[in-house]
Amino acid sequence: MKILAIETSCDETAASLTEDRKVITNIVFSQVNIHKKYGGVYPALARREHKKKINLVIKKALGSHSWKEIDALAVTFGPGLVIALEVGLQKAKELAKRYQKPLIPVNHLEGHIFASFAQSKQGNPQVSPSFPFLAFIASGGHTSLILVKDFCSYQVLGETLDDAVGEALDKAAKILGLSYPGGPVIETLAKTGNPSFLDLPVPMKKREDLNFSFSGLKTAFRKKVEKLSQKEINKNLSSLAASFQKAAFSSLLDKLEKAILQTKVQSLVIGGGVFNNQTLRRLVRQLARKRKVDLFVPYRKKLYGDNAAMIGVAGFFKYQKGVFLLPSQLEKLDRVARPSLKLWTSPLNTPPPPKRAPAS
Ligand code: KG4
Ligand code: ZN
Repeated sequence: MKILAIETSCDETAASLTEDRKVITNIVFSQVNIHKKYGGVYPALARREHKKKINLVIKKALGSHSWKEIDALAVTFGPGLVIALEVGLQKAKELAKRYQKPLIPVNHLEGHIFASFAQSKQGNPQVSPSFPFLAFIASGGHTSLILVKDFCSYQVLGETLDDAVGEALDKAAKILGLSYPGGPVIETLAKTGNPSFLDLPVPMKKREDLNFSFSGLKTAFRKKVEKLSQKEINKNLSSLAASFQKAAFSSLLDKLEKAILQTKVQSLVIGGGVFNNQTLRRLVRQLARKRKVDLFVPYRKKLYGDNAAMIGVAGFFKYQKGVFLLPSQLEKLDRVARPSLKLWTSPLNTPPPPKRAPAS
């Protein structure tokens, strides 16, 4: 089944062509350089750039394939920046109508969860986890531990109560006067720094629940950095980056271990831009080995961060479950995108009641 997928939830204008789980094309136009001078994503600019680039990105994703070959469209309908999401959603609806194709609305987090199910064009046998498995998503917008019971059946075990871990890394970089996005800059610096240089609290460590919080860590970091002179900051930049990264990642690992022990799952899937970080991937691999769970990761680095192929692959599974809209049903899909869409929300507004794990 060939799916043309569109993703515009944040600052990447992305489109892809997938066939079942195979990624044929995966075009990502990153707006990072446009947002850099604002030190974060500027929503109105994101919308303007998505509008500018969307047709080109879709054309590139289609390549030499014709619309006749396409079986369905998939699109991110939330969560994300509402005015950015709308660009992709409107375009997908327009194309579904024009070419009379089914439209599969996909939650952005479902995309990150199923990125590890994607296969290369050559169809190299990417082994996938069996259900139930634990999905750990760490990005600029999310830090979530999700028990995936089946396609379209999720239980959010924990999520961030304030900033996402990627957002925290971006803010820490800003405190140090470094450029956006901060995650990759912090990673590079941290490689040569002393992670014990600053004594920082590991957020939420004493709590048994699986939620995260990074704003306290950010404040503690800012206060300690403010006590240093500019000269001291410049001299110890790598160690400051390493200290912050260590505290943030310790929290991720602590909650991940608790989640593995509580759920007793056999398999773990990771996704989201923060997993571009080699140190974090190494720590997760070590933990998986220690706790004897099988770790599943995307076959390409590009599939960690925001991209459309992950939406196409998740869309393929949703289509098998019958979660899609026929061209005649398009009007039933909300006119506006959903900025804080929950994982269990049906595109037809019939959400099953969410079940959260009781905090122990
Ligand atoms: O998944 P993603 O591309 O977009 C969202 O859905 O948010 O993740 C972007 C986030 C940013 O906060 C960025 O700083 C972080 O991922 N990031 C990294 C690295 N590369 C990107 N964080 C740590 N280390 C990296 N190498
Ligand atoms: Zn994302």
